[in-house]
Amino acid sequence: MTVSILIGDVRRRLEVLPAESVHCVVTSPPYFGLRAYGTLTAIRTVPATVLDPFLGSGTTAMVAHRLSRQSIGIELNPDFAAMARRRIVRDSPLFGDVIISDGDS
Ligand SMILES: C[S@@+](CC[C@H](N)C(=O)[O-])C[C@H]1O[C@@H](n2cnc3c(N)ncnc32)[C@H](O)[C@@H]1O
Repeated sequence: MTVSILIGDVRRRLEVLPAESVHCVVTSPPYFGLRAYGTLTAIRTVPATVLDPFLGSGTTAMVAHRLSRQSIGIELNPDFAAMARRRIVRDSPLFGDVIISDGDS
């Protein structure tokens, strides 16, 4: 599973995101820490690519990754993007890639 972190202003990044490249948009999962998301073997998830247009420290992408979903996160602040990458890799170091793309192009 791949997590793509796009650094830049969401208004510019969304303009160039290919049509139909995401299936679901989530930002700030409301029940993280309160809700049991299960494990990869305990639940079946519908394949989907999740977009968080305001990635922040990456909780949405981290949970998507746990659920074996591709995800795209857009974040203005490169320091938050780097923090999100560290959190996702630390959360599940053996699964997939976290790609950071800098700039608004
Ligand atoms: C509260 S955090 C989001 C938390 C995140 N959704 C999560 O699941 O952990 C909001 C983030 O939006 C980013 N942000 C604000 N304006 C933005 C913009 N125009 N484009 C991209 N990111 C932006 C901020 O830098 C901040 O990190």
